[in-house]
Amino acid sequence: MVDCVAGYDKTAVEAMLRSYADMTQRALAALPSLACTLAELENNPLLQTLHASEQYSLMAGGKRIRPALVLEVCRMLGGEKAAALPLACAVEMIHTYSLIHDDLPCMDNYDLRRGKPTNHKVYGEAIAMLAGDGLLTDAFGVIAADAHLSAELRLQAVGILSSAAGSCGMVGGQLIDLENEKKTLPQEQLCTLHRKKTGALFRAALLLGATAAGKTQEKDAALFEALTRYAEGVGLAFQIVDDVLDVSADPALLGKTLGKDAAEQKNTFLNYYSVQEALARAAALTEDAVAAIAPYPCSERLQDLARYLKERNH
Ligand code: IPE
Ligand code: IPE
Ligand code: MG
Ligand code: MG
Ligand code: MG
Repeated sequence: MVDCVAGYDKTAVEAMLRSYADMTQRALAALPSLACTLAELENNPLLQTLHASEQYSLMAGGKRIRPALVLEVCRMLGGEKAAALPLACAVEMIHTYSLIHDDLPCMDNYDLRRGKPTNHKVYGEAIAMLAGDGLLTDAFGVIAADAHLSAELRLQAVGILSSAAGSCGMVGGQLIDLENEKKTLPQEQLCTLHRKKTGALFRAALLLGATAAGKTQEKDAALFEALTRYAEGVGLAFQIVDDVLDVSADPALLGKTLGKDAAEQKNTFLNYYSVQEALARAAALTEDAVAAIAPYPCSERLQDLARYLKERNH
């Protein structure tokens, strides 16, 4: 029986996500750059520890939403999966690094992530910091080695991912987040914070999917604009739901430390809205995202994915 919620097929979205997550897991496990490290591991216990720490967080699972976005956009545009997989891995490596660092005591100070003790709880703070550094740096090596893409497209991918992850993107958002704990940001600045710390990597995932399908920012400006609008809606909605889950999720499902946003007086949508109002805001952003890509052929799955994400429970 098809499980239809709010006009979309939830079972089909879940099957799609499972399939993309499996592909990503296999591709991450087979990454040549990490295999190179493996060759150097012998007789080097320090490097072994660093490698184990990176693998601990990277292979712990997670929903693999950003890789799914890369792969689905590439499919929608008629591109090859083989070209998209390295880009999907790269964005997930950067996302995983951001989580390892986000969990450190000097940042959000979490004990639990992806259903396991956080990286620094197992390996210590210094190794956790270096594991994050390693994943971040190696992500760009993975793009450089994407043999299915022309040099021009690899360069575009590096530009997209570095600007999304760097100080004007995710890192900049993390700074605004930390600097404004225990203060209440005006709502407009709260949106900027969420767009940067979470939305920027979503935007990168969408644009990397288009890059894998051979599209360029120069020649396909309207497509890049539509994907950016989709990413902005979905990315902001994703962080609003993340804020809501921090106060309402089932701990066993969420797999990460709960209730910290209120304890640390973080800036979240719940400073302004009730849970219901925040979710209504996420729904409106989702519909805007859907409208941005609806004119494109074969975009139905991406539309349904946006609707699924606003209803997620973990
Ligand atoms: C958590 O991201 C951090 C945010 C940006 C909200 P996810 O909810 O995608 O975490 P994983 O990858 O599934 O663990
Ligand atoms: C994290 O936002 C954004 C990142 C760049 C990692 P949060 O701090 O709200 O994410 P969680 O709740 O720890 O996953
Ligand atoms: Mg944080
Ligand atoms: Mg956090
Ligand atoms: Mg959170």
